[in-house]
Amino acid sequence: MNDILDKIRKLKEERGAVILAHNYQRSEVQDIADFTGDSLGLSLEAAKTGAKVIVFCGVHFMAETAAIICPDKTVLLPDEHAGCPMANMVTIRELREKKKEHPDAVIVTYVNSTAAIKAESDYCCTSSNAVKVVNSIPPDREILFVPDQSLGAYVASRTGRKIILWHGYCPTHHRMRSEDVIRMRGLYPDAKLVVHPECVTEVVSAADKVASTTGIMEYCRETQAKKFIVGTEIGILHRLRKENPGKEFYSLSEHADCPNMKLNSLEKILWSLEDMAPAVTVPPDIARAAARAIKRMLAIV
Ligand code: 13P
Ligand code: SF4
Repeated sequence: MNDILDKIRKLKEERGAVILAHNYQRSEVQDIADFTGDSLGLSLEAAKTGAKVIVFCGVHFMAETAAIICPDKTVLLPDEHAGCPMANMVTIRELREKKKEHPDAVIVTYVNSTAAIKAESDYCCTSSNAVKVVNSIPPDREILFVPDQSLGAYVASRTGRKIILWHGYCPTHHRMRSEDVIRMRGLYPDAKLVVHPECVTEVVSAADKVASTTGIMEYCRETQAKKFIVGTEIGILHRLRKENPGKEFYSLSEHADCPNMKLNSLEKILWSLEDMAPAVTVPPDIARAAARAIKRMLAIV
């Protein structure tokens, strides 16, 4: 293990690379990263890094967003097959058809989407700033929220805005149901329930706190409670336990794992630095159009 860690560190230095990891990555990948965070935090970190190479340990849309923000950098995704199924739940043809039905709607697109969909959008947002992004849009404007129905419904409930929802969803977060809440609340009655807004509405409405993955980290750090039931992908438990040794964390469901997030590994990080591949690139015309919506997202933190 130490051998591979040493090799990664040495090669990272030689390549002038930085390793960014999402909060759901494998524990050992989070531990070798220079920065671990949520989608917004990782995008902001990519935007400000002085490194020439970004090894993006996350899923494809995250690396693609970094490539758009940093056109002069090489963005490596250690496993090129690490995709997000939700991002594929909207096609350009479908979105254009919907836009024709609602010609005056402002298109707000969750960052869990392809660059081509972002290029068709007015605003991008992450789970951490979706409410603020929607609140920044004049109240008389109709909003089409793409592709996550759960986050869209949560934003509608928090803002009181009329939002047209898309039918996309996260298969991992939708595995957690009311029965899990009842079971886990029964087992740990004094624990706080903290969940991601990609969860189904009945889980979201039962929670003590709804937040992005970094928002979940902050809440668990700052709240006096000692026990937490965590309704998001299980990879986050590593950081929660590491950074809060005096507290206890239980997953709302052991089935809440995202196989795509687990595709990156130490070996693949090393190979990506050796080969400088797989690199994620975006065609310039799509990147230009998508950058408009992404910059609006980065301006509202
Ligand atoms: P965060 O932006 O909250 O980290 O979420 C990203 C994601 O893919 C959730 O499933
Ligand atoms: Fe996509 Fe869900 Fe995995 Fe997040 S947890 S990357 S939304 S499939």
